Amino acid sequence: MVAFFAAAALTVLYITLVTSTQASQNLMLVPWAFEPLPVGSILPLGWILGEMQTMAHGLAGHQYDFYVYVNESRWLQAPGTGGHDYSTVNEALPYWFNGLVPLAYLLDDERLKDQVHTVAGTVLNLQTDDGWLGPEVLAERNFWGRVPLLLGLTQLVEANSTWEAPVVDALRSFMTLSHTMLLNNSQGHGICPPDVECSWGQTRVHDLIITIQWMLDNYPSSQDALLWDTMDMFYEQSKFRWVDWYQPGVYLEVVTNPTTKHPDYPYLHGVNVGQGLKASAVVRRFNHNDSLVDASMTAVNWTFLYHGAPSGTILGDEIQRDLAPYMGSELCTAVETGYSLAYLYHTLGTNSYADRAELVIYNAMPVMMTGDMWAHQYMDQPNGPWATNNTEDFTHPDGPHLFTTAHSGAATTFGLEPQYPCCTVNHPQGYPKFVTHSWGYVGDNGLAHILLGPSMVDTPLAVIECDTAYPFDNTLQYTINSSKDFDLYVRVPSWFTPDTSSIRIGDSSSALQPDPETGLHRIRVSSGSTTINYTIGAAIRAETRANNTVAVYYGNLLYALDVGSSVKSSYPHAYYDAQGEGLDYLPFPELRDYYVNNSKAWNVAIDPSTLQYHGLGGGATLPTPIFEYGAPPTYVTVQGCEIAWGLYLGATPDLVPNDRTCLGGSSTYRLIPYGSAKVHMSELPVVEL
Ligand SMILES: *[C@@H]1O[C@H](CO)[C@@H](O)[C@H](O)[C@H]1NC(C)=O
Ligand SMILES: *[C@@H]1O[C@H](CO)[C@@H](O)[C@H](O)[C@H]1NC(C)=O
Ligand SMILES: *[C@@H]1O[C@H](CO)[C@@H](O)[C@H](O)[C@H]1NC(C)=O
Ligand SMILES: *[C@@H]1O[C@H](CO)[C@@H](O)[C@H](O)[C@H]1NC(C)=O
Ligand SMILES: *[C@@H]1O[C@H](CO)[C@@H](O)[C@H](O)[C@H]1NC(C)=O
Ligand SMILES: *[C@@H]1O[C@H](CO)[C@@H](O)[C@H](O)[C@H]1NC(C)=O
Ligand SMILES: *[C@@H]1O[C@H](CO)[C@@H](O)[C@H](O)[C@H]1NC(C)=O
Ligand SMILES: *[C@@H]1O[C@H](CO)[C@@H](O)[C@H](O)[C@H]1NC(C)=O
Ligand SMILES: *[C@@H]1O[C@H](CO)[C@@H](O)[C@H](O)[C@H]1NC(C)=O
Ligand SMILES: *[C@@H]1O[C@H](CO)[C@@H](O)[C@H](O)[C@H]1NC(C)=O
Repeated sequence: MVAFFAAAALTVLYITLVTSTQASQNLMLVPWAFEPLPVGSILPLGWILGEMQTMAHGLAGHQYDFYVYVNESRWLQAPGTGGHDYSTVNEALPYWFNGLVPLAYLLDDERLKDQVHTVAGTVLNLQTDDGWLGPEVLAERNFWGRVPLLLGLTQLVEANSTWEAPVVDALRSFMTLSHTMLLNNSQGHGICPPDVECSWGQTRVHDLIITIQWMLDNYPSSQDALLWDTMDMFYEQSKFRWVDWYQPGVYLEVVTNPTTKHPDYPYLHGVNVGQGLKASAVVRRFNHNDSLVDASMTAVNWTFLYHGAPSGTILGDEIQRDLAPYMGSELCTAVETGYSLAYLYHTLGTNSYADRAELVIYNAMPVMMTGDMWAHQYMDQPNGPWATNNTEDFTHPDGPHLFTTAHSGAATTFGLEPQYPCCTVNHPQGYPKFVTHSWGYVGDNGLAHILLGPSMVDTPLAVIECDTAYPFDNTLQYTINSSKDFDLYVRVPSWFTPDTSSIRIGDSSSALQPDPETGLHRIRVSSGSTTINYTIGAAIRAETRANNTVAVYYGNLLYALDVGSSVKSSYPHAYYDAQGEGLDYLPFPELRDYYVNNSKAWNVAIDPSTLQYHGLGGGATLPTPIFEYGAPPTYVTVQGCEIAWGLYLGATPDLVPNDRTCLGGSSTYRLIPYGSAKVHMSELPVVEL
């Protein structure tokens, strides 16, 4: 479906490229706005630590024990000698590795560290003499599947210097080979093996370039000229470039014919969009084109304006379409969007990126996992009051379909690998990458808390512990030890209410003065021990959505209508046999598929003037796991009533009706943190009561 490059066009391209490359060799990469800290110097505390430990004890932490796409991956066998994978791009083990490296190290979990060491050792030992990493033999080679593996390897080096020499050597030889392949008619990038789609490698090429930039940032060497050249070629030889997509007249605000045959499909696939949000910021680091700063903001603004869910993720059930509250969104999209937004803040430093990174990781991601994190959804819907065995596609076999391609009936159920295995292997990166991006350097003498939450950071400037229940509560307490004076910066979310916000050091309290661009408030800290209390004032927000509906927030948590929860479970199903008997031989009884139905009314309109927030009482602690139904102590109450509201395709709540006539009297309804409301309504029709 993707037009391949003509050889002639490539030759022309390469001539212009040599010229631009020669110019670029005297250049440096554009510095980070806030340089990230090495993996391992920021550790999770409090409720996030509990969530990550739950992950380690759940599906993420046990895939290496039983999941054949991981424990018997093609990557772990000599090239051409078999092994498992769910697709020809061989991304399963790399996705797993990218998430498990930081999970293992942030928890200092010996069992998981052993797993990632064994896998890293095996993969590096199997590197071919010409530098290729991965199971493909010669003509089968394509780049995309390598990308998450490389991201995992760079994280491993940051976390453990024992891996520095073997990994950096392997990367050098891989990049030398990449250079040769790109010169050879764009082998593996513009020209892919017969049954492998090149467009994935091209739309996601910035994630590969991140590894090249990591080498340039951290390991300058005589190979730098080749690395610059390789970086330029990867980009120049990509037909799909996000900066070209987010242009008036090109960008599709609504997609009227959403199919995988759409010529713009690579730009419309939800996961690609999530990954692509950071593309222009990555490219700007090497081409120094400052128009890409605005281009990044345009990409984020348009994506969320035309395709954003209240939970902070991007709607696209494989493919973007419109803002219908029954649109689906993949778990992979949520974790990739979180990573991109965190990256955007570190490179460009605009406050809204960090707000959005918190939003997607604190809402869109956890709602798609069971509390114990043994099961996940493939797709969530903003208005999804049930996540059951959806047989709509069997009763309407010829369409129209609820989702564009997810027709197994299992897309919204929670399980081992509902619909497709990609989110099984890709979801573990969500929390760990969020935590590793939660602090950054500000120049040489400053440290910023960027993504708020409980964490601890250990740097040459200071050791800081941040104790907080954020975002369940908006007070943060910092305990600091430092051997010299330095500047601590705390990020002030854009929704803060100035009058009820403060910074308190000892007996003195001061107002917040956030920088208008970055949102950072500076605090000068003297050497020695210091305790600082940071209180972020918040108010309930009812944000207007399409057709006179609202989404309700307090701080960075979305609150959804509690529709109750009635759960059934079965053996887990293989994705290719979603309606079969289920797998009865897997070694962990925790592996189940779950079907969640509502047990209370979902067809409710609310009166936003009656919203009331019920926060954490003083001294309250949060249970682990926190995103279990019924677990979070905070909630919102509101007056509302039931209205007549039909179904779409007999399967899911239709678009929000215009007629808001109450069917009965009004009563009080409860809204709960979205991440705990596995089934929910989050785009609520407005009614005046
Ligand atoms: C991988 O897990 C499966 C269970 O799903 C098990 O049968 C198999 O022996 C495991 N393979 C290895 C190499 O441990
Ligand atoms: C670092 O990696 C080496 C090699 O795998 C391992 O022996 C060592 O225990 C690791 N260090 C830590 C702190 O995990
Ligand atoms: C160039 O790429 C083709 C596949 O597109 C491959 O068959 C050939 O071996 C490559 N040539 C060299 C010199 O690597
Ligand atoms: C910078 O990038 C924009 C967007 O791709 C492009 O239109 C412009 O020509 C570029 N400027 C330079 C100096 O290359
Ligand atoms: C993006 O949206 C923000 C508000 O959310 C606005 O301040 C900014 O001007 C917009 N930028 C662009 C380039 O659309
Ligand atoms: C809003 O209502 C109009 C008219 O019913 C409908 O065409 C549109 O899809 C709705 N938008 C959303 C986001 O539900
Ligand atoms: C700060 O130093 C004190 C005294 O050495 C120690 O008890 C405390 O744990 C340290 N706190 C942090 C956050 O490192
Ligand atoms: C900070 O908050 C904690 C917990 O509420 C409280 O115990 C402590 O006294 C406060 N410290 C300051 C300096 O206000
Ligand atoms: C889903 O529903 C269909 C139709 O009722 C049924 O045949 C099938 O067994 C169900 N699948 C599961 C996994 O419950
Ligand atoms: C969900 O519950 C409703 C009643 O609340 C019932 O009508 C419906 O059949 C249930 N759906 C499933 C799949 O169990």
